[in-house]
Amino acid sequence: MIDVQRVSFHPPFPEELWWNTDQLTEHVSRFPEGALCAEADGRIIGSMTGLLVDMNDYGHSHNWETITGGGYIRNHNVNGDTLYVVDICVIPEYRKSGIGKLLMQTMYETVVQLGLRNLLGGGRMPGYGAHAHEITPEAYLDKVLQGEWKDPVITFLLRCGRMPIGVAHHYLEDEQSNNCAAIMEWHPFK
Ligand SMILES: CC(C)(COP(=O)(O)OP(=O)(O)OC[C@H]1O[C@@H](n2cnc3c(N)ncnc32)[C@H](O)[C@@H]1OP(=O)(O)O)[C@@H](O)C(=O)NCCC(=O)NCCS
Repeated sequence: MIDVQRVSFHPPFPEELWWNTDQLTEHVSRFPEGALCAEADGRIIGSMTGLLVDMNDYGHSHNWETITGGGYIRNHNVNGDTLYVVDICVIPEYRKSGIGKLLMQTMYETVVQLGLRNLLGGGRMPGYGAHAHEITPEAYLDKVLQGEWKDPVITFLLRCGRMPIGVAHHYLEDEQSNNCAAIMEWHPFK
């Protein structure tokens, strides 16, 4: 799993944000339904992690550190009605073959099976950094939403049926995204 992160999130993404074994142990023990892997030929090629939260405890101007307990999900709330996505990645050689979408759809099934209200998460916007001097993150997101520009993560999330509900400006140390993230939702009944 750590190797999958290493090849999926390469510099300038900070390596301190790759999983460590304590975090992975917390994921599988606190909320195993939210700890997904994709496997091919006996090898892990992608993963997705989530936790349950009550959004009344956070609000929409949250950041990754607070809402995921720094990636340890010790704030996992068994009574929460939102499945919050901590992370999704697929190793480069398997990208654009539908693996990420399958992971997302599997998490949507978990939302339905657990009778939750929605799935939510902050989508990195790695194409934004190059435009940060000329356009706001909201305007960038709008261009991607309209299909005028493509973003490697936001376009993927849109193709998975996630819809933006806002932009968090200090979400995560992420130079490529100028530290911004699009907060994107999926709702089982919309
Ligand atoms: C984002 C990521 C998980 C996508 O995984 P993937 O397995 O390549 O995605 P899929 O093949 O399932 O693609 C699903 C759809 O998104 C589109 N898509 C995927 N990557 C895209 C890209 N770079 N640009 C534009 N569209 C893209 C696909 O074309 C496909 O569209 P379709 O439904 O019309 O066929 C993967 O690129 C990744 O691991 N990136 C690095 C880690 C990262 O930043 N994760 C996001 C954390 S918020």
